[in-house]
Amino acid sequence: MNSTLLLDGTLDADIDHAAELLRAGQLVAFPTETVYGLGADAFSAEAVAAVYRAKERPADNPLIVHLANSAAMERCALVNDAARRLASMFMPGPLTLVLPALDAVPEIVRAGLFTVALRVPDHSVARALIERSGPLVAPSANRSGRPSPTRAEHVMSDLGGRIAAVLDGGPCRVGIESTVLDLSGDEPLLLRPGIVSREEIESVLGLPVRLLAGGDDEAARRSPGTRHRHYAPAIPVRWISSLPTATIEGAMVLMAEPVVELPGVVVHPLDAATLFARFREAEMLGLSEILIIADPDRLPAGLVDRLRRATGDHLP
Ligand code: TXA
Ligand code: MG
Repeated sequence: MNSTLLLDGTLDADIDHAAELLRAGQLVAFPTETVYGLGADAFSAEAVAAVYRAKERPADNPLIVHLANSAAMERCALVNDAARRLASMFMPGPLTLVLPALDAVPEIVRAGLFTVALRVPDHSVARALIERSGPLVAPSANRSGRPSPTRAEHVMSDLGGRIAAVLDGGPCRVGIESTVLDLSGDEPLLLRPGIVSREEIESVLGLPVRLLAGGDDEAARRSPGTRHRHYAPAIPVRWISSLPTATIEGAMVLMAEPVVELPGVVVHPLDAATLFARFREAEMLGLSEILIIADPDRLPAGLVDRLRRATGDHLP
């Protein structure tokens, strides 16, 4: 494939065109409220295999199935009471639920696991698309190992020439990936922190939710994604607690409020919605490093998680 079509998410005809491509087994990236996803027909093993190839994604990292509404979960999984309660609060929204899979879900979607991850995006373009195409797998539409894309141009730069089309819906509102919660076992397990917080989930379930710490065997088994390098730009990211005294020329500084100007340095406010776009911007500008200046205790857990990964777990 050599040219990737840029479609306009504000045009009904373009959404139709995207849905047609997807029904024909092609790959189309589309906007969600979190990040752009690389869509393919969730019930076509062949189309799903093409997703792994386009992203260069390891075969052991399963995909999220995106649905137009929470009722459609019943087509893909054994839905339990906890899942129904959370769905009524957070779907559509940035919460992904892992549940025992039905046979209808191809094995390649689940990377061989007995579970499947499900989510209903809270984005009008995504939902209009899925209503027309049917359920879609959609990993973040970056090349494996790159920061997730939050604008159509990020997708083009990572996957242009490898996929049929990108449906442009403007910048993503949330900016970091959905919270992933595993409800397939005896206790709810938080596999990936996000904007829907552990506390919010606990208050709906009336149960404690355990955060699966990365790195150990259990984490690798329950959440294969944690094994792989993630969210890292090509230049180093360093996290410090206060303004450095030494010169930081050539760096991009991302600073928690209040933001102060630093002579000769690119300074931006630190927030989840723009984090990945700033990573890419610093690379494009040819800067030497990205400095994070913030107190981790005062940031949302989802943002701290992404910063941990980007800094190789070096907190200030
Ligand atoms: O916000 C999001 O979730 C975005 C947008 C596009 O919806 N998608 C996304 O997909 O971040 P991806 O593939 O980049 O991340 C999916 C995460 C991975 O860490 C993967 O290991 C985990 O979900 N996952 C998927 N299926 C799973 C399963 N059956 N059991 C455990 N973890 C699973
Ligand atoms: Mg991803």
